[in-house]
Amino acid sequence: MLRFALVGCGRIGVRHAELLAGGRIAGAELAAVCDVVAAKAERMSRRFSRPHFTDMHEMMRKVLPDVVVVLTESGNHARHVISLAQYKRSIIVEKPMALTLDDADAMIQACDKAGVRMFVVKQNRFNVPVVKLREALEQGRFGRLVLGTVRVRWCRTQAYYDQDAWRGTWALDGGVLSNQASHHVDLLEWMMGDVDSVFAKGVTALVDIEAEDTAVVMLSFRSGALGLIEATTATRPKDLEGSISVLGEFGAVEIGGFAVNEMKVWNFTQSNAEDADVMQQYSVNPPNVYGFGHQAYYEHVVDCIVHGKQQLVDGLEGRKSLELISAIYESIETGREVSLRFKPSRCRLGAHT
Ligand SMILES: NC(=O)c1ccc[n+]([C@@H]2O[C@H](COP(=O)([O-])OP(=O)(O)OC[C@H]3O[C@@H](n4cnc5c(N)ncnc54)[C@H](O)[C@@H]3O)[C@@H](O)[C@H]2O)c1
Repeated sequence: MLRFALVGCGRIGVRHAELLAGGRIAGAELAAVCDVVAAKAERMSRRFSRPHFTDMHEMMRKVLPDVVVVLTESGNHARHVISLAQYKRSIIVEKPMALTLDDADAMIQACDKAGVRMFVVKQNRFNVPVVKLREALEQGRFGRLVLGTVRVRWCRTQAYYDQDAWRGTWALDGGVLSNQASHHVDLLEWMMGDVDSVFAKGVTALVDIEAEDTAVVMLSFRSGALGLIEATTATRPKDLEGSISVLGEFGAVEIGGFAVNEMKVWNFTQSNAEDADVMQQYSVNPPNVYGFGHQAYYEHVVDCIVHGKQQLVDGLEGRKSLELISAIYESIETGREVSLRFKPSRCRLGAHT
């Protein structure tokens, strides 16, 4: 049984605790929780009947967990992961792994030096229809890729941003691209391959935050394919969709729903015996926009640790989508097309002013 300890008892902390304490992940259990805000740690401790701490170092020394899970504000992930590496336990860090490429590099280096495995949460990669799409890509069923599109049309009001001071700030969060749509940006790159260049526009349309709540991005992939990202939290009055479509020479697939969870289109020039059932069998309705993926994600982590397998998203893989997001911000700031690789100069994500 692997014992997990949580650092951060906020919104997503509850989701992690529900899975780990509820016996839903075979081979995993919740050992302890920690939050610098004592009331939050105590609340979680009462709800899940686990010991609580306000100092993560004390928790690490007293509990000796096998895995520590970093669920703090995005801009704080780097310093927390780096200081936790000394305990030589596996580390899970929520998305985005960091807000600057320098931070991401420092995290990778600290974990490598300490011999620690880092797992970056990208739970949407485990959504049932997404796994199916990836399988079709790996089988070469699309032929040459033509166009990949992701769309995030969610609703986050001023009240959402106002609930915590870090939300929507450049230093600790960024906007829709680095927070809500970071999953979809990751999925697009995972499906379509490396990106050559991006051109983007962003605006803060309906809320009062530092970063953008709405953005559009044109992408050119190394393969010659093109891509589009449409991301907004300014959809009103409620969430509309989180989707991806991949079009290729021999097929088109679209996955929609609120959280990339519903197979909408599965068309191939050459169909196979399984195709008839794909639309019914590979759609699931998650209870919320986080989707079901965290459960599958934890099962993957346990499998990797117990059987010594390579994790799907390690530090280097997590850094890739951060590099893409930083390039998109650089394009928004400069008004120019940005080629990858690049050195950020105007991108404000992660900048402390
Ligand atoms: N994978 C997903 O779908 C998903 C969904 C929501 C949030 N997230 C990510 O999870 C992270 C947290 O988001 P949230 O909405 O839960 O934020 P939150 O503000 O609700 O929770 C963060 C918590 O971390 C605590 N904290 C900060 N420093 C700490 C420290 N040194 N030790 C212990 N606790 C500390 C804060 O007090 C706070 O309670 C963000 O990076 C966010 O992007 C991921």
